[in-house]
Amino acid sequence: MTDPRLQGRSVKRIAFSAEQIAHRVKELGDAVSDAYPDGELLVLGLLKGSFIFVSDLVREVSRPLQIDFLVVSSYGTETVSSGNVRLVYDPQAELRGHHILLVEDIVDSGRTLGRVMEVLREREPASIEVCALLDKKKATYLPHPPRFVGFDAPNEFLVGYGLDHAENFRHLPYIASLE
Ligand code: PRP
Repeated sequence: MTDPRLQGRSVKRIAFSAEQIAHRVKELGDAVSDAYPDGELLVLGLLKGSFIFVSDLVREVSRPLQIDFLVVSSYGTETVSSGNVRLVYDPQAELRGHHILLVEDIVDSGRTLGRVMEVLREREPASIEVCALLDKKKATYLPHPPRFVGFDAPNEFLVGYGLDHAENFRHLPYIASLE
């Protein structure tokens, strides 16, 4: 399949179509709405990968909420984790006493999530849960695995719907592996 957004690369396989993603994001939004009957809810998106997912997810949540972001960098331009997780931008919002929903595009090794959860817990939120669109189910050691998961992800390098390869392909409306 050729797509003018792919800089001459070809899709090997579409893992999740735009329609599949939209359907599942709606279900996740409903689940989040049901899970928080009261209290202040702060949705924290992990940039950059979650920017499209957060945007779509919050529009499916039918309760009051606030939104902020954090920036964590771990992969650079490599396709495998370097193991270094850097906090580049801290949320400005008050976390103490708020329910925090941390939104990730993908949990791979779980290093990013583990480190970010440590940092956020120190700010004494009322609760903290994770919503990940994709989970490779490799991070079985995590003390606090994602409560909300969109899809189990295949063990392939995926791009699209926020996921990149060397900063490219984030704008694809579907999630795919490339040749
Ligand atoms: C990717 C992805 C997750 C993380 C998952 O982020 O968005 O945050 O890696 O990998 P892990 O479970 O092995 O830690 P990346 O560092 O590539 O930054 P990005 O969000 O800006 O693409």
